[in-house]
Amino acid sequence: MTEKRLPLSSSELKAFAEYVGTPFHIYDGPAIRKNAEDMKKAFSWADGFINYFAVKALPNVNILRLLASLGFGADCSSLPELKLAKEAGIPSERIMFSSNDTPDEEFMEAFRMGAIINLDDISFIDDVIRVCGKLPETISFRYNPGKERTGNAIIGNPSEAKYGVTHSQLAECYRRAKENGVKHFMLHTMVASNELNEDYIVETARMLFSLVDEIKRECGIAIEQVDLGGGIGIPYRPDDTAISFSSLGNRIHELYVEMIEKKGLAPLRISFECGRCITGPFGYLVSKVLHVCHKYKDFVGLDASMADLMRPALYGAYHHITVLGKENKGNDHIYDVTGSLCENNDKFAIDRPLPEIDKGDIIVIHDTGAHGHSMGFNYNAKLRHAEYLIDSDGIYMIRRAETYDDYIRTQLSEPKKL
Ligand SMILES: Cc1ncc(COP(=O)(O)O)c(C=O)c1O
Repeated sequence: MTEKRLPLSSSELKAFAEYVGTPFHIYDGPAIRKNAEDMKKAFSWADGFINYFAVKALPNVNILRLLASLGFGADCSSLPELKLAKEAGIPSERIMFSSNDTPDEEFMEAFRMGAIINLDDISFIDDVIRVCGKLPETISFRYNPGKERTGNAIIGNPSEAKYGVTHSQLAECYRRAKENGVKHFMLHTMVASNELNEDYIVETARMLFSLVDEIKRECGIAIEQVDLGGGIGIPYRPDDTAISFSSLGNRIHELYVEMIEKKGLAPLRISFECGRCITGPFGYLVSKVLHVCHKYKDFVGLDASMADLMRPALYGAYHHITVLGKENKGNDHIYDVTGSLCENNDKFAIDRPLPEIDKGDIIVIHDTGAHGHSMGFNYNAKLRHAEYLIDSDGIYMIRRAETYDDYIRTQLSEPKKL
C-alpha cells in the first residue's frame, strides 16, 4: 500500500493554484532529493555507482541541476537532451547517450562532447567510425536478451523490441570495438518499464553479471561497468507497493559478491538510468474543474488535457486523483475525468469513484513527475503549461507557460518558396 500524499497541505496547494492559475505541474524538490539520496545510499557498497537520470522523464534543466548536485548523471537519447544535460553543467563522463535509430549528427555531437556512447545495434559501430573517424575510447553496447526474458506491456517483449544487440551479436560487438581501439567497455540493457517486481530487476543484474563472465571468457575483454537501464516502477495505484532501493541494493550486492567478486571479475561499476522512480511520485498535475456534465455518463471536464499528461490515454495508465478540500468525503460518485481535446480518449480516468465534484474544484493528478509534462504536445493548438518546483525556501517557477507567440513562432506568415 502507498499513501497518496500531497506536496503541500491541501489548503496551501489550493491557495497556490488560485494565485498562479491552473493547470500546472508542480514538483516536490526536498522529496526528490531524499529519494535520490536513498538510491545512492542503497548502492554505496558499489564503488563508482551512478544513476544517469533519464532526461526524457523530466527534461527541465533545474531538475537536472538538482540531481547533478547529488552526483547523478544524465541519460540522453537525442541531441536536444545532450544539450540540456550540458546546460545543466553535467560533466561529459556522467552523460550516457542511450539512443536508437540514431542520426549521424547525434553520434557526432555525443562523440565531440565526450559522452558515453551506448550503441543500440552492431551496424552502429561502422556508423560511428564513418561519422566520427574512429570509435571513442569508451563504448557501451545495449543488450537485448530476446526470448531469454519477458518484457511488459509498456516496453513489449524483448524479442519484439526494436532495441539492442542480440546475444549472438554481442561478442562480435566487443571484438570489433577492441580491434578499433576501444579501451573501456560497458554493457547496458533495458528490458522492462515501470516494473514493480524487485525480482525482475535482480534477474536483470544476474543476466548482466553472467554476460560479463561470458564476454571475459569468449573475448578476453573485461567489462568495467554494467548499466541496468531504467524501468524501476512506481506505485501509481494506492494498493501498489514501491520497490525498496535498500532491499534491491542488498540483493544485487549479494549477487555481485557471488558472480563478480568471487570469480575475479571485480571491479565492476554498477549504474542505472532510472527516471520514473526518481521524480515520478513527486510530481503533480494541478487542474481546475471547468464543467460537470451529466450525459449517458457523468463527466468532469478539466482545464488540463492529455496534452499535459498522455499516459492514461496512451497506456490506459492509472493516475490517482485527489479533489482538494474533499479528501475526507466518500468516493460515492463515478466520473470520467476528461480534458478538452477533440479526442474521446482525452480522459485522465474512466469510471473513477470520487467525491461529488463541483465546477471550480481543484483536482490533483498524482505521480506526474516523470513522463508527464515531457510527453506533452500541441494538438488542438493546446499550449504547454508551467512547471513549479517546491524547494526548502519557497516555490520556484522552473518553466513558464507557453504563449500563443511561442506556438506560432515556427510558422511562416509569408510562405518561403523553395
Ligand atoms: C534507454 C532508456 N533508458 C532509461 C529510460 C528511463 O526509464 P524510466 O523512466 O522508466 O526509469 C528509458 C525510458 O523509456 C529508456 O528508453
